Amino acid sequence: MSQHTSPLAIETAGLVKTFGETRAVDGVDLAVPAGTVYGVLGPNGAGKTTTVKMLATLLRPDGGEAHVFGHDVVREADEVRGRVSLTGQYASVDEDLTGAENLVLLGRLLGHHKKAARERAGQLLAAFGLSEAAGKQVKHYSGGMRRRIDIAASILNTPDLLFLDEPTTGLDPRSRNQVWDIVRAVVAQGTTVLLTTQYLDEADQLASRIAVIDHGRVIAEGTKGELKASVGAGTVHLRLRDGGRRPEAAEILRSALDAQVQLEPDPVALTARLATAAGDTAAEQASRALAELARAGITVDNFSLGQPSLDEVFLALTGHPTDDTDSEEMAA
Ligand SMILES: Nc1ncnc2c1ncn2[C@@H]1O[C@H](COP(=O)(O)OP(=O)(O)OP(=O)(O)O)[C@@H](O)[C@H]1O
Ligand SMILES: [Mg+2]
Repeated sequence: MSQHTSPLAIETAGLVKTFGETRAVDGVDLAVPAGTVYGVLGPNGAGKTTTVKMLATLLRPDGGEAHVFGHDVVREADEVRGRVSLTGQYASVDEDLTGAENLVLLGRLLGHHKKAARERAGQLLAAFGLSEAAGKQVKHYSGGMRRRIDIAASILNTPDLLFLDEPTTGLDPRSRNQVWDIVRAVVAQGTTVLLTTQYLDEADQLASRIAVIDHGRVIAEGTKGELKASVGAGTVHLRLRDGGRRPEAAEILRSALDAQVQLEPDPVALTARLATAAGDTAAEQASRALAELARAGITVDNFSLGQPSLDEVFLALTGHPTDDTDSEEMAA
């Protein structure tokens, strides 16, 4: 039935959750290959946390089906719980305990003996750069330290599937990078990660496949490359030696490449959005453009070829930028 070669960690069909009038999750189909990071990307209120909670057996779906490693999340909830772990947007460590006390306590709750629980806690604290803060109460941790102790708590027992619900929201760039490294390390050990995020660059950095959700629906799904390709093949940025030749250069790019050309505020710069041309890669199109410009005697001082950003993908898919939802909701 499935076209994926690897076994699926998560498979949902028509998953629905309603809260009164709100269809928080409105028929979501997902197929998450095991052993990868799968990104669920969407703005505030898109339905990310609700989806994760159903998959983690914390909320009962109102419609559709979901399987985790082949187990039904409703009928076989215990089997599912045995294989997953959740780091929530609002996580579960005890603020009044120290980092070390939290990890040891959770380790004991998971059935480890005292010595083993202490050892595992020590390993994780060291791996997450929290050894120095081990004896501090969690309520005195910075946001980044807090997020790291949350993730540490959720991988005390290496889960087969880890849900990370917006693990870096509100973190500074350095802390985000630390969390990203942790996610990469977790996946390298064989855990599948379902990562929700509002950050396009985060999905781009970590995930192999991405589902874009908006208003409880999957509006696009694929590899990063596929999603980007649905918007266009790429973007060429050019800087000309002589700004006076810019109109001519723009015309050449339009006719030779069928590209959408934009003149930049910088008078020598222009940007061409390449169309998704059949059988012609962005690099091939770009080199053709350079050849045409050279033939016309137009000197290019600087040239770069970029893939479209996930921001452009979201805009193209939804017709609104990612941060538009709040204002829409407020207006409604
Ligand atoms: N317990 C609840 N009761 C009523 N409505 C809810 C409840 N939980 C979620 N919702 C609504 O369901 C929709 C989806 O919420 P959800 O928390 O899943 O979004 P999200 O994608 O996680 O957003 P965020 O990025 O802000 O965390 C929102 O409109 C939200 O207000
Ligand atoms: Mg959420």
